[in-house]
Amino acid sequence: MRLDRFLANLPTCNRQQARLMLAQRRVRLDGQVASDPLTEVRAFSRVELDDEVLQAGLPPRYLMLHKPPGCVSATHDPQHPTVMDLLPDALAQGLHIAGRLDFNTTGLMILTNDGQWSRRLTQPATKLPKHYLVETQDEIGEHYVARFQEGFHFAFENLTTQPADLQILGPRLARLAIVEGRYHQVKRMFGFYDNKVVKLHRERMGAIALDMNLPPGAYRELTLEEIAAV
Ligand code: URA
Repeated sequence: MRLDRFLANLPTCNRQQARLMLAQRRVRLDGQVASDPLTEVRAFSRVELDDEVLQAGLPPRYLMLHKPPGCVSATHDPQHPTVMDLLPDALAQGLHIAGRLDFNTTGLMILTNDGQWSRRLTQPATKLPKHYLVETQDEIGEHYVARFQEGFHFAFENLTTQPADLQILGPRLARLAIVEGRYHQVKRMFGFYDNKVVKLHRERMGAIALDMNLPPGAYRELTLEEIAAV
């Protein structure tokens, strides 16, 4: 929310008073004087007026989790365990998933309470590559590579997938980098060849790679470098 609107929403302040307080340099955002009415106030921002704290600011949280198979990428599920069940309740509070994985897909899952940051990770417009290790039922042909680059038409969404890099690692094993995260995207791409994906593992999202020291089900905080890389 804009800083002038944030101030004008206070019970004791109107828009004119808000502008005056800003011009008088009485407002501080994260410890710095803020006089621009258009400055963005986020849930994590600390806002002070003179010596009064108007908003303390939520601590932002960023986690990576090694998703095991057999759990749902959701905050609640009536039938199955969810990825949130792998975290202590106090830590899971307020977190959302940045890029869901299917029930049996394993690998890198990122959880945060910072919606602005997670949008950069998941929006197709950012073109952030997500790397998957894919094992298929049938052989992967060399001709797949060019076709994955050209894109597949997804009739349901009426769109053509963005160019995807397919690297064949073995007769039924490949590494795939896609910049979108459409519903069941990887399985549907291989589905154009009637080639069933039997194992799917996300290794990396942009500069953030799954930590090799994390066994399935384990999690850790992202480092400052990982957070800044998004
Ligand atoms: N694509 C899929 O088909 N499934 C996933 O879990 C992730 C990407």
